[in-house]
Amino acid sequence: MMGFEIHRYEEIDSTNTEARRLSQAKMCDRLVVVAERQTAGKGRRGRSWESSESGNLYFSLLLKPEIVPEKAPMLTLVMAYSVARTISSLPELYGFHDEVREGTKAVRIKWPNDLVIDGKKVCGILTEMHLDEDIIIGVGVNVNGNVFSEELKDKATSLALAYDKASGMTFDKEVLLQNILHEFEQQYIEFLKVQDLSFLQEEYNALLVNCNKEVRVLAPGQEYNGLARGINELGELLVRKEDGSVETVYAGEVSVRGIYGYV
Ligand code: BTN
Repeated sequence: MMGFEIHRYEEIDSTNTEARRLSQAKMCDRLVVVAERQTAGKGRRGRSWESSESGNLYFSLLLKPEIVPEKAPMLTLVMAYSVARTISSLPELYGFHDEVREGTKAVRIKWPNDLVIDGKKVCGILTEMHLDEDIIIGVGVNVNGNVFSEELKDKATSLALAYDKASGMTFDKEVLLQNILHEFEQQYIEFLKVQDLSFLQEEYNALLVNCNKEVRVLAPGQEYNGLARGINELGELLVRKEDGSVETVYAGEVSVRGIYGYV
């Protein structure tokens, strides 16, 4: 076990930004920044991430792995997979697995790294890479929050909202964080050994909400529909186009949507 050094804050601009500041101030690796609230939480594609409520989990993990930079984006998928596994273990942990098994409330991955329950987003991940080899994986999990802005209300959910009826309890963010870190650590060790995603490809694909679904790929200069077939060992999404050819979609450059909505 390698362990992580955890820095905790009541309020911070963004845990990703703070992880970067700490990394620059002192040489460190495997550092976690966690905050109750963020005043400038960052989402992907330059968007902001609502984080004024303290009921949710906001954390960033700083890593400096010895890998070529092209492999770094795969770590985002490793994190998505680790968080998905952790959330999947909650029903067992809290004793309401029968309800989840019978219902539609299982957590799924929306490639590359959103997590959804019942078609609504419950976790987002923002990975930032720097030329000096810092990799910062920022994770926002909607845990106990139940108020969403007008814009998000039909697209987002939280663990409490999704599971509340079954569990009747709030979730302990600290337990969740520790479990995610523990799970990630195990997957990270495997990743460093093989330096690709072959070790989790099959299980990742089993969790993929878009698997065998029709998706619309929005790539620079082209848009097309196709059938998502799952990831390859590099974490790229394979999409079979209508003419039978298979495109390899790299996470950095495109957006993939369900043709009927968010998933
Ligand atoms: C997304 O747009 O889906 C990614 C959202 C990532 C949010 C998390 S919250 C903790 C960390 N700090 C940030 O500023 N962003 C990430």
